Amino acid sequence: MSGRPVSVAVIGAGMAGRSHAAGYRQANTVFGRGLPPIRLAAIADANTALAEDAADRYGFESALSSWEAVAEDPSIDAVSIVVGNALHRPIAEALVAAGKHVLCEKPLASSVEDARAMVALEQGADVVTAVGYTYRRAPAIAAIRDHVRQGDLGGLSLFHGRYWCDYACDPRGPYGWRYQGAPGTGALGDIGAHIIDVGEYLCGPIESVAGGALSVQVAKRPIPLGAVVGHEAAPVGDETGEVENEDTAVFTARFRTGLTGSFSVSRTAFGMPNGLGFDLYGLSGRTSFDFPRPAAYLLDDTQPAARGRGPRQVIAGPQLPYFRGGYPMQAPGVGGGNAEMFTYQCRAFLDQITGAADPLPANASFADALHTMEIIQAVVQSAQAGGASVPVR
Ligand SMILES: NC(=O)c1ccc[n+]([C@@H]2O[C@H](COP(=O)([O-])OP(=O)(O)OC[C@H]3O[C@@H](n4cnc5c(N)ncnc54)[C@H](O)[C@@H]3O)[C@@H](O)[C@H]2O)c1
Repeated sequence: MSGRPVSVAVIGAGMAGRSHAAGYRQANTVFGRGLPPIRLAAIADANTALAEDAADRYGFESALSSWEAVAEDPSIDAVSIVVGNALHRPIAEALVAAGKHVLCEKPLASSVEDARAMVALEQGADVVTAVGYTYRRAPAIAAIRDHVRQGDLGGLSLFHGRYWCDYACDPRGPYGWRYQGAPGTGALGDIGAHIIDVGEYLCGPIESVAGGALSVQVAKRPIPLGAVVGHEAAPVGDETGEVENEDTAVFTARFRTGLTGSFSVSRTAFGMPNGLGFDLYGLSGRTSFDFPRPAAYLLDDTQPAARGRGPRQVIAGPQLPYFRGGYPMQAPGVGGGNAEMFTYQCRAFLDQITGAADPLPANASFADALHTMEIIQAVVQSAQAGGASVPVR
């Protein structure tokens, strides 16, 4: 692509849509001058007031009331899909047919069938198709991956990943799209997709799962009287809707290397607003990470003589991936978190589109995200078979 501006749009102005909008706005302020100018063209949402507010806040030229209007606008080059998962496939199909680059939120779709159709679309596409696994862009998680690859932990022996949230604890919380869909589209698809991706990012591909168990803690929820944004409370009536998918899930996994691990995800874990974390052990080291403290991680890679003295805390700073060039203040201990990860994700997408000379690591493909969904499907099958081992196809 030449140096002409790249025009971007965001479909969905809810919780995560605003994060994409903010990410595009910041994308040209990080990692040097590799990108052409970014034109912030449009934000589309069926909730027009929300689209207008987001366009105004993040400096986008227009607010549109339908995703179709984005697909039909020939001036738009690249689009983020940030709406409920059941809409990902039809929107991606229309955008790719219109020749637009697509960055789709996770999980890729609301069914494996839809996800496979999106992979077929990707295979024939002459545009970039990408999926946002934002946590790969957390400096501490990327640094931990470097430790693993450098052998700082020795041969890996145990992984435990968790993503514990509490957004579904309140039984008066409104019945939104997250509670509708087959088993696997609840906590597993919504937050499990992230920690499964992190587990594979650190430890390699998962080949089979076992011990799957799913449960629902709040069986019915009140229907909202109006629009709902993300996990926010909203006025509700007396009518209720049936929660169709899991609030909580656990399973074990076997990685291709032979490593075994365990995962637990829940949207009903009181007091944990956004508790993605993991512990990773090897024969000569260990590390732990918790997103509530995103700018630090624990590392014990001491020599045998010091074993048992405990891990040290590594404070994020310019020595970590993404931090140098990715934060305005190049100094350790200044924090960092969710918004920056979306900026790096948008930047990586734009690097991919423009063929940047020194790109950030590319985003996951639709095919990668289908694999995550196949793991989730295997967990559901394991649960339905009383915890049996199920290969990931
Ligand atoms: N990467 C992350 O950390 C992260 C975090 C949250 C959500 N997500 C993902 O982002 C996506 C959206 O989640 P959210 O929490 O922002 O949802 P949300 O419910 O807050 O927002 C979705 C928006 O889509 C709009 N919408 C619904 N139907 C539409 C249509 N036909 N045309 C245009 N707009 C329409 C709604 O009005 C709403 O504002 C999901 O795929 C979710 O899994 C990712």
